[in-house]
Parts: sequence; structure tokens; C-alpha cells
Amino acid sequence: MANSSLPPSLLLILLFAFFSNAFNLPSAMDCNSSDRAALLKIKEQLGNPPELSSWLPATNCCAWDNTVICFETGRVYLVALFRLNVTAPIPSAYGDLPMLKTIQLDTMPGLYGPIPSSFAKVSQLELLDITGTQVSGPIPDFLVKTNLSALTITNSKLTGPIPQYLSSLSNLRYIDLSSNMLRQIPEDYAYGDIDTIDLSHNQLTGDPSFLFGIAKPMTKIDLSWNELTLDMTKIWFPHHLTYLDLSHNHIKGGVSKFLKDIKLGHFNVSYNDLCGEIPTERFMIYYGADSYVHNKCLSGKDGNGKRE
Ligand SMILES: *[C@@H]1O[C@H](CO)[C@@H](O)[C@H](O)[C@H]1NC(C)=O
Ligand SMILES: *[C@@H]1O[C@H](CO)[C@@H](O)[C@H](O)[C@H]1NC(C)=O
Ligand SMILES: *[C@@H]1O[C@H](CO)[C@@H](O)[C@H](O)[C@H]1NC(C)=O
Ligand SMILES: *[C@@H]1O[C@H](CO)[C@@H](O)[C@H](O)[C@H]1NC(C)=O
Repeated sequence: MANSSLPPSLLLILLFAFFSNAFNLPSAMDCNSSDRAALLKIKEQLGNPPELSSWLPATNCCAWDNTVICFETGRVYLVALFRLNVTAPIPSAYGDLPMLKTIQLDTMPGLYGPIPSSFAKVSQLELLDITGTQVSGPIPDFLVKTNLSALTITNSKLTGPIPQYLSSLSNLRYIDLSSNMLRQIPEDYAYGDIDTIDLSHNQLTGDPSFLFGIAKPMTKIDLSWNELTLDMTKIWFPHHLTYLDLSHNHIKGGVSKFLKDIKLGHFNVSYNDLCGEIPTERFMIYYGADSYVHNKCLSGKDGNGKRE
């Protein structure tokens, strides 16, 4: 779910950030002066918060806290900001950092407004992570101009549909848009090589069965807490799936017997409209009654699948 999981690549980058800051590695090279000017503009657009007091004009921006990281060339490639007590829109000045690969804005309950159109200029952007903000509006079309491999916008106020173009981003592997107010998954969505998709806790409607399929490379699908309708009886699930949560939707039909060949570490179809006998073959024996609670008329698993 939302705030517990960071993309592994981002975790690595942040670990690197931590250790290189701890040993003062990047401060050897001086930051590019136009990047420093852009960062100072970001600070100003955030209302000069006290947490960014190390961001001073005459200093090396590659050593600034909370966190800035540069390439050896002194060009900034990561800006990760955490727990800033600001009341401000997302700074447009990110668009003036052309070499940026990672933007992280985490736990800033006073950060509001749409994703600025200047993000289209950050064409090398690979990781965008906005978590725990008031950021609102649709997921903008101009993100198609970036090189996203992980898109995380959670615990925020996004509205509108999930844009079709995400499936055309050839490097995109990780999507976490949980806990927003998104309404629709585009039909014919292919989800190319997506590994993880978490759309839980939104207001999604419609039939998401096009997401599934035995040959899809997905390992995690979380669609829980939406308004999705789907007949599960004949759904084939991706072979490499390890996490499947469809709970709190309007899933009908029976528990798909094709699940028996997939070894899931997490499985939950509770709070739906499922009916019929719960399959008991192979891996199905590992799932307890609490994977099935509160359905229409499931039988097996001690009858606990029945709606109270
Ligand atoms: C800093 O960035 C500017 C703008 O991209 C570039 O023209 C300039 O060559 C860079 N300076 C250094 C020292 O790399
Ligand atoms: C956040 O900032 C406001 C004013 O800028 C201040 O009144 C408030 O106490 C701060 N909150 C925290 C948790 O630091
Ligand atoms: C896009 O990102 C991938 C990693 O996901 C990287 O290998 C590739 O070089 C990037 N392409 C550009 C044009 O930056
Ligand atoms: C499934 O979700 C329901 C409702 O959110 C919860 O009560 C139950 O413990 C969950 N079961 C598993 C196996 O995660």
C-alpha cells in the first residue's frame, strides 16, 4: 500500500545520498552555477522554509541538505525534499534543472496545486515521487516528455482518469497512484512492461480485466478500495504475480480457478460480490478465510466467506 513501499531504485539512490552526504563525497566538486540558481529559486518558491537553511548562495549546492545530489560534473540529478512545513504550490523552478533524474516531495501536507507544466522540460526525469501532499488536478499529459521508470503520487488529491499515455512510456516499470481521487483506468490499456501497479484507495470504476493476462510481467497488482466491477471466474492472472489485492470492490463471479498455479505472498478478494466454491487445489491451500471475508455466497473455507 501507499506509503510503505518506495521503488527499490529510489531506495538505493536515497541510501547513496545518505552515505555520500555522511562522508561528504559530492562536496569535492562545485555545483553548476545555473543549477544553484534554480535551486535557490525552488527554495524561494517554497517560501524559504527553515529546513532549507543550508541552501545559501555562496555555497556548494552539491552538499545541500534534505537532499541535493550532483553528478561529478557538478550538475544536479536528484532533489529529494522531506517533511517541509510549507504552504506553497509545487515550485515551477524544477524545470530549470535539465539534468534532473529524481524529484521527490515527501510528507508536505501544505504543498498544493497541480504538477507544473515546467516539469515537461525535465526530459531525463526517471523517478517522480510525490507523497503525502495536497497536490491536485489530473496526471498531466506533459509527463509523456520525460523518461519515467517509476511514478509515485500517493496520499494526495489527484483527480481525473489515469492517462492513456503511461503505457507508451517504454521505461516505466512502477506505478503507485494509491490514495487519490482518480476515477478511471483507460480501457485498452496495455501496461507494457509494468512490474508493479498500485491504484488502491481511489474512486476507479469500470472493468479492469484487460489488466490481467497470463503473459503480463506484473508481480504486484493492488486495486483494493475502489468501485471496480469484474467477473473473476475466467480471469487468467500473470504468472509472476506475488501480490494480488482486489478487496473492497464489486468483483463478481467465482474465485478464478486459474489462481491455483500462482504462488501469492499476499492474496485478498474480501468485501466483494463473489459466489460459489473456493478452489482448493495447489497454492490455494495457503490462503485463509480472511482472504475471502464478506462476499456474496462463497462456500468452503469454513463458510467464513459468507456475507454477515
Ligand atoms: C552550467 O550549466 C549551464 C547551463 O546548462 C552550462 O551552459 C554551463 O556550461 C555549465 N557550467 C559548467 C561549469 O559545467
Ligand atoms: C509550521 O509553520 C507555521 C508558520 O509558518 C507555524 O505556525 C507552525 O507552528 C509550524 N508547524 C510545525 C509543525 O512546525
Ligand atoms: C531513460 O531511462 C533509462 C533507465 O530507465 C536509461 O537507461 C536511459 O538511458 C534513459 N534515456 C535517456 C534518453 O535519458
Ligand atoms: C483482507 O482485507 C480485509 C478487509 O480490508 C481484512 O479484514 C483481511 O484481514 C485481509 N486479509 C488478508 C489475508 O490480507
